[in-house]
Amino acid sequence: MERKRWYKDMVFYQIWPRSFKDGDGDGMGDLWGVYEKLDYLKSLGCDGIWFSPIYPSPGADCGYDIADYMDIAPEFGGMEAFRKVLEGVHERGMKLIMDLVVNHTSDEHEWFQKSRKRIEPYTDYYIWRPGKPGGKLPNNWDSNFEGKAWTWDEERGEYYLHLFAVKQPDLNMDNPLVREEVKKILRFWLDMGVDGFREDVITYISKKEGLPDDHLFPVYKGMPNYNHGPHIHEYLAEFKRDVFDHYDCFTLAEAPLVWPKQALKYIDEETGQLDMMIQFECQCADCLFTDWMPTKFSLPKMKKAFSDWQEKLEGRAWNMLYIENHDHPRIISRYGSEVFWKESGKMLAVMYLFQKGTPFLYQGQEIGMLNWRPADPDMYEDVQTRWQYANTELNKSPEDRLHRLWRCSRDNARTPVQWSDEENAGFTTGTPWFHVNPNYKTINVAQQEQDPDSILNFYRKAIALRKALPVVRYGTYTEHFKNDRNLYVYSRDGATQRLLVICSFADRPAGLKVPKSFDLSKAELVLRNVEGPAGQVLMPYEARVYLWNK
Ligand code: NOJ
Repeated sequence: MERKRWYKDMVFYQIWPRSFKDGDGDGMGDLWGVYEKLDYLKSLGCDGIWFSPIYPSPGADCGYDIADYMDIAPEFGGMEAFRKVLEGVHERGMKLIMDLVVNHTSDEHEWFQKSRKRIEPYTDYYIWRPGKPGGKLPNNWDSNFEGKAWTWDEERGEYYLHLFAVKQPDLNMDNPLVREEVKKILRFWLDMGVDGFREDVITYISKKEGLPDDHLFPVYKGMPNYNHGPHIHEYLAEFKRDVFDHYDCFTLAEAPLVWPKQALKYIDEETGQLDMMIQFECQCADCLFTDWMPTKFSLPKMKKAFSDWQEKLEGRAWNMLYIENHDHPRIISRYGSEVFWKESGKMLAVMYLFQKGTPFLYQGQEIGMLNWRPADPDMYEDVQTRWQYANTELNKSPEDRLHRLWRCSRDNARTPVQWSDEENAGFTTGTPWFHVNPNYKTINVAQQEQDPDSILNFYRKAIALRKALPVVRYGTYTEHFKNDRNLYVYSRDGATQRLLVICSFADRPAGLKVPKSFDLSKAELVLRNVEGPAGQVLMPYEARVYLWNK
């Protein structure tokens, strides 16, 4: 029996602040813009916000390189704007969670500046090594973003480890002083009233002793030696015991490469150290491991991933549900169809919103924003995209290389939110910091507000329904017709209600399939994404939700 916790009844909305809404006309999204849109978020049925980093940062990885953990970046409006937003959020009965990025800092953080000069107590705040004889790197690990994981620092005369960009040195979490710093940061924000944290690549924070070479992984070399490392549960338990247990908050851990069995070690409600997990498995139905290695979309693979997490966490841990975030291309462009834009956008909403867990929406998802396809590779901004483009597939044609960007780049999800068909999509009155997707004339919030049949209004309907039906929140999950290549069918069973969700991923009509023992003549069709009689044939990308009251 799961514990009752407030976040289980909520729907969250992720804000990637640079591109959400500019409130002061400088071209960069900010907290004044967020403040303007709080009622909009509430109107979607969202009860909480997760902010991607809003701290001072040089922006080498769009804020995931933090230079000061206890302040808000001036370009986002500083503390003044933050307090206003926090107050506005709480006044509306909503919650706010921050992004905690402590696997690494920015190289411009004061700790790193002092560490490279060996100023105490910062000397061992980071992972420094002299290198191997013959000028060789300390080990063979790759960074997740930019080549090898080690960079030489002239000032210190040693290499430092960075599992991400060169400007993101990894903290040495084995140093108890670093863990105390983390606790200070957590208390600072919790005391101010924030309601929890999303914890960036938190499963990376404990590296294997001796930092040995990796002979297992062909790419992302080193990962087996730092993901789910030796002291990870100990450190997380320490944060929980010393900080989280003293607040009414929740924690959401980002975990690249994790499976349900392992996830339970972190999020089992009896024994875990965290509350929910962002896993990547459900994002890998059209790529191997990361978006940079695309394969053909596989519905069976996607269904298996969702079902595995639903089934294996049942009764023991709580799922975090998402189909988009700032690290993945837009979901309609990946799992749906741009031709059947509206139908597939709504179907994908149904597909995940009626599962068990706490759903998160990513900005722009609610209006069906699509991938961005610029003509010039230089227009990309993201550090990972730029490195991959400059260093991989150099033998392919320029066209193929550009198509890879169109399909895989994280920048697909980072173009400004399209608020209206006015200049710059109504995102800013200044010059936008990043390119606006030219399709904003047809895909925008203002237009969809007016249209009762829009993706936006469908999200509202689906979320309201989710909240009205206890079976969605607490019923058990069963998948049907697992081998079907067109349909994703699952049911939910609760004490007084039963639900059947049918989603077609076919771009042509498909036969309706209903599991035995589900008598549709006794059910109510409570949600559907297309018009016309709901007969034995499903329209392309049709989704239906049937309800039985027991
Ligand atoms: C995961 C974040 O989601 C991503 O945006 C970031 O680049 C890396 N962690 C490094 O912090």
